[in-house]
Amino acid sequence: MISERLMKALNDQVNYEFYSSYSYLAMAAYAEAEDLNGFANFFRVQAQEELFHAMKFYDYINQMDGRVILQQIDKPQIEFDSVLHLFEAGYEHEKTVTQRIYNLTDIATEEREHATISLLKWFIDEQVEEESSFKSIITKLKRSESNPAALYMLDDELATRTFTPPVDAQA
Ligand SMILES: [Fe+2]
Ligand SMILES: [Fe+2]
Repeated sequence: MISERLMKALNDQVNYEFYSSYSYLAMAAYAEAEDLNGFANFFRVQAQEELFHAMKFYDYINQMDGRVILQQIDKPQIEFDSVLHLFEAGYEHEKTVTQRIYNLTDIATEEREHATISLLKWFIDEQVEEESSFKSIITKLKRSESNPAALYMLDDELATRTFTPPVDAQA
C-alpha cells in the first residue's frame, strides 16, 4: 500500500507532466508564429511525450489502487526572445523535472516502495535523454548564430521528428 505522502507526490507529478506538455505547446506556438515549422514540430512532439509521461504516472496510480486527483495546470511561459531562448528555457525546465524525479525516488526509497522505484528508474533514464537532446540543440544553435542558413537547416532537421511511444513502456 502506497503511503499518502508518496501518493500525493505522484499526483503532483501527474500535474507537473501536464504542465510540461502545456509549456512545450506554448513553445511550439511561439515557433509557429515565427514560421519556424520544424522547431514548432519539435515542441509539438515534445508536448506529446509529456502527455505520455503524465499518463504513465496516471496509469501507475490506478494500478496501485490509488486515486488520480487532477489539479489546476499553471499558465506556461508564452513570451520568448529567440529560438535559442526556447531551448534554454526547455533545458532549465528538464533540469527541474530531473530534480523532481530524484525527490520522488528519495521518498520511494525511504518508504521501500520497490515497484515505484522501478517506475521511477524509467523516468531517471528518460531524463538523461531529455537533457541531452536539449543540450545538443543548444550547442547547434549557438554554432549557427549569425548564420540564418544553418538555422533553417536545423529547422528542416527537426521537422522530421515524430512521436513514437516506447514499446517497453506500456502501462
Ligand atoms: Fe516528462
Ligand atoms: Fe521532459
